[in-house]
Amino acid sequence: MPDRYAVIGHPIAHSQSPRIHGLFAQATGQDLTYEAIDGGGQPGGFARALENFRAAGGRGMNVTLPFKLEALACADDANDTARLAGAANALRFEAGRIQACNFDGAGLVRDIMVNLSMPLAGADVLILGAGGAARGVILPIAQVGARRMLIANRTADKAWQLATEFAPHVATADNCCAIAGAGFDAVELAGAPFSIVINATSASLSGAAPAIPDRALAGARLAYDMVYGKGLTPFLRQAQNVGAQRIADGIGMLVEQAAEAFAWWRGIRPDTGPVIEQLAKPLV
Ligand code: ATR
Repeated sequence: MPDRYAVIGHPIAHSQSPRIHGLFAQATGQDLTYEAIDGGGQPGGFARALENFRAAGGRGMNVTLPFKLEALACADDANDTARLAGAANALRFEAGRIQACNFDGAGLVRDIMVNLSMPLAGADVLILGAGGAARGVILPIAQVGARRMLIANRTADKAWQLATEFAPHVATADNCCAIAGAGFDAVELAGAPFSIVINATSASLSGAAPAIPDRALAGARLAYDMVYGKGLTPFLRQAQNVGAQRIADGIGMLVEQAAEAFAWWRGIRPDTGPVIEQLAKPLV
């Protein structure tokens, strides 16, 4: 019998995870199945679906919106990244326990450093947004040695709160990353150049761009939009127009976080390059 894995969310039909994990399993010769489960919109739906899947012998799950917070809450053990993010995107069922991780940040870091060959060590990073997506990537970016991180958000209060909450965790002994929060109109955005600008807002999903000054993007070596499959988003277009050296969407992050989960479950890391190539859409 093949081992069973799944992704759970609501809605879930759009999820690329079954395709990605299917390609990983094929390439690594792992005997497993991977299905999509709709946790439904009713209270308790996630917990019920999770228990049914475990009872039927499920070994692990990816978790997507809107269940990432519930996934962390139901876990017996969680790693630091998940705990600080307040959310989990991968679960493993082992020896009667539910273990939780959040691989979104690891996926982003690997995509930037390995696939796009942009150093994060010593980098000045601007993160746009202060919601769940931003939360999940702050610690992993600090852990690979970013020098400075500015969290900027439309609602400045939320950015300040997030920076205050993360400050003690990102300024560790062997890596002193400075973190601050700001609104989009703050002087810091138009002043110092950032080497990497990451759009972690959900603006691109509604065809909008975060209203940041051109100067925040002008000197960037990389402008990265965490959404994928939307082509040239208004954020990426702005970056391109003001001369950012490179633009990328989040397809690499999606595939890399999937590879992290696959490795955690199966003990073997699949080659991500061919999968990213199959799924990537042109940025036009
Ligand atoms: P997610 O889990 O995708 O991060 P979220 O927690 O709802 O979703 O957070 C959405 C983020 O996108 C917030 O930072 C939000 O800004 P506000 O806190 O000011 O609401 C940001 N966002 C959404 N639409 C935006 C837009 N059109 N322009 C700028 N920021 C936007």
